[in-house]
Amino acid sequence: MTVNITDSVTWINESIAHSDFNEHVSVYLIEAETGYIVVDSGSVHHRRSISEQLQDATDDKGVDAIILSHSDYPHSGNISEFRDRWGDVELIASSGSPEIQGLQNATKCTIGGSMDVLGREFSFIDPPLADRSHTTWIYDHASRVLFTADGFGNYHQPEEEDYTSADFDNVTPFEEIYQYHRDNLVWLRYVDPGKLRDALDATLNQFEVSSVAPIHGNPIRGSDLDTYLDRLIRAADKITNEYVVA
Ligand SMILES: [Fe+2]
Ligand SMILES: [Fe+2]
Repeated sequence: MTVNITDSVTWINESIAHSDFNEHVSVYLIEAETGYIVVDSGSVHHRRSISEQLQDATDDKGVDAIILSHSDYPHSGNISEFRDRWGDVELIASSGSPEIQGLQNATKCTIGGSMDVLGREFSFIDPPLADRSHTTWIYDHASRVLFTADGFGNYHQPEEEDYTSADFDNVTPFEEIYQYHRDNLVWLRYVDPGKLRDALDATLNQFEVSSVAPIHGNPIRGSDLDTYLDRLIRAADKITNEYVVA
């Protein structure tokens, strides 16, 4: 399904079904002045569906550039498909050795820096919540949307597939935030939740955020961000207490 996050940012969500919950594996489409940009490329499992939705959402013009959060397959799985389908699609990645990670012809972005992509300014942030090195969060200055992986995710029930945080009864539920981070960011058990909060606040204070757009969760509206953050830190606290390090 496609859901508009702002005038120029569209969420194309896909999910993987687990036994009693679903997990988003999404891409986001950005309409820039001179073309279309996607953040991440989605999973191979959704290759046809994502490609067709992008074809429709771009009025058959296709994608001109991909900005990659990191090279895990659920994020990078369709890069070659997009290039086969739409030709010379520019790839922007923070990877230090893109060829080794199977990313051919990549333009390197610098974590901590900014770059113009199709006439639009993006900043690349060193993420306090990631699952591997060479991950970047991506801030789009025009829409003020912050794209995140793998942090800021949540599991969801099938009927919540297209929700933003504002569509839940009271923002994204704690349990869905907790279970996602427990399962996917396993190092959280070793982290001081207070220091994590400080690191997240330091990042978020640098940018005015209209929405957080996670690859593995429901988008979080800026007005819901404090509530989400409180729950995330409570989740980190619970995870830490479940795994006492000897
Ligand atoms: Fe990942
Ligand atoms: Fe991921």
